Amino acid sequence: MAYKNLREFMEVLEDQGDLIRIKDEVNPSYEVAAYVRKSSDVEGPAILFEKVQGTNMKVLGGLFGAKRRVLQSLELDEKNLLTNYLKKEGTVIMPRNVDKAPSQEIVLTGNDIDLYSLPQIIHFEKDAGPYITGGIQIAKSRRTGKRNAGMYRMLILDKNHLTVYAPPGRHLRIIIEQNLEENEPTDVATAIGTDPVIPLASQTRKAFGYDEIEIAGGLRGAPVEMVGCKTINVDVPATAEIVIEGRTVPGREAEDGPFGEYPGTYSDVKKTPVVEVTAITMRKDPIYQFCMTGTPMTENHHMMELPLAALAYEEAYKICPDVVDVVLTPGGTSRHHAVVSIKKRHDYEPRNVILALLAANIGIKYVVVVDHDIDIRNQTDVEWAINTRMQAQDDVLILPTMYSPTLDPSAPMHRSSSKMGIDATAPLGRLDEFSKVKTPGTDTVDLSKYWSP
Ligand SMILES: Cc1cc2nc3c(=O)[nH]c(=O)nc-3n(C[C@H](O)[C@H](O)[C@H](O)COP(=O)(O)O)c2cc1C
Repeated sequence: MAYKNLREFMEVLEDQGDLIRIKDEVNPSYEVAAYVRKSSDVEGPAILFEKVQGTNMKVLGGLFGAKRRVLQSLELDEKNLLTNYLKKEGTVIMPRNVDKAPSQEIVLTGNDIDLYSLPQIIHFEKDAGPYITGGIQIAKSRRTGKRNAGMYRMLILDKNHLTVYAPPGRHLRIIIEQNLEENEPTDVATAIGTDPVIPLASQTRKAFGYDEIEIAGGLRGAPVEMVGCKTINVDVPATAEIVIEGRTVPGREAEDGPFGEYPGTYSDVKKTPVVEVTAITMRKDPIYQFCMTGTPMTENHHMMELPLAALAYEEAYKICPDVVDVVLTPGGTSRHHAVVSIKKRHDYEPRNVILALLAANIGIKYVVVVDHDIDIRNQTDVEWAINTRMQAQDDVLILPTMYSPTLDPSAPMHRSSSKMGIDATAPLGRLDEFSKVKTPGTDTVDLSKYWSP
């Protein structure tokens, strides 16, 4: 059964011991982020900070800092995860509009708007300032009427202005640019602290025009309740803890960055659109959620991993219906490095799988294809396949720099990457010759009778 809102999910987690409260006063500069970092490093609990300097709001961090909480919010488990996830993701459920919403219990407009009343979380030592990292930005294209929801960080500039970091190619940026061609601003609502499925749905990589709120309905198995904003023409999740309503200022940009990013390195400084806030609405006693990123694994990686791996699986499946499994490895930032196992039917089929994945709208820069007998969740097994079934001069594809919707610090140009694929499969029909040696009885003898670790 779908979680009604963030609070219901938090209660369940707290009962399970998977959410803790820190009641001591903490500093929003680094300290809250440090606690969340430390917890996600050991796949620990989500943390609710009850007393954060400079704000009356409680602060939630690390909600998705362990993969189990992503699975719990989607009501999935590891068994057949990618195919079960894809079934849910492919079932669209339209949202339902309501007139009255908890997210509008308090409405602040005009001089009452003050972004500094929100927790001023600074995540990394070289960050440009306090960023909002747990917001889901919702906007509509005036031209097509299509809605988009994605997560884009925001740097607080002053009481009522912030940047929105949606680089070229991102769907929000496409909407902003389409509207700009008609010299029109874009209404942008930022929902913070929604039911847990909505931020996950915002990470799906569908083509421009798909509505992530409808996808969220499918993923949670029930419509998302939406309410019209008070000052802009956008609907937002009715149970959100906080909503920042605003409008881009045509022609106005400001610098974003540096910011500690998901590859685990800093982004550089770039110009990005500015949003002027028209209202802040919230629940009484709202919970402010932020999302931790940085060197993998963090909640940012856990949130991206499943939709991206599922998309990679779909792309591989189009080439090879006998794709067994796909992993986007943690060291590859859950995004840049894919390992795929297949039952190949043609000697060169792995090359097509490699190209499909490198071209997919994910940003993969390195693909390894192995046979179905390899456990791709076991790094040693994958390396073993590379070392016993691959000859570099025949089995490595290297592509020149291509567009890549990722942050690759080693790339010569922003949002680009040179790419590589390795076919580590055995020649067709000769897998037996390349199989692992076996000692009969290893599976059945009972060593525990004599020794336990
Ligand atoms: C916590 C978190 C923060 C993110 N911040 C940004 C960001 O600042 N800019 C960005 O382009 N993508 C960011 N992303 C990734 C996008 O939200 C994601 O790729 C989304 O699918 C983009 O939506 P779009 O394809 O509709 O543009 C973030 C993801 C997460 C989980």
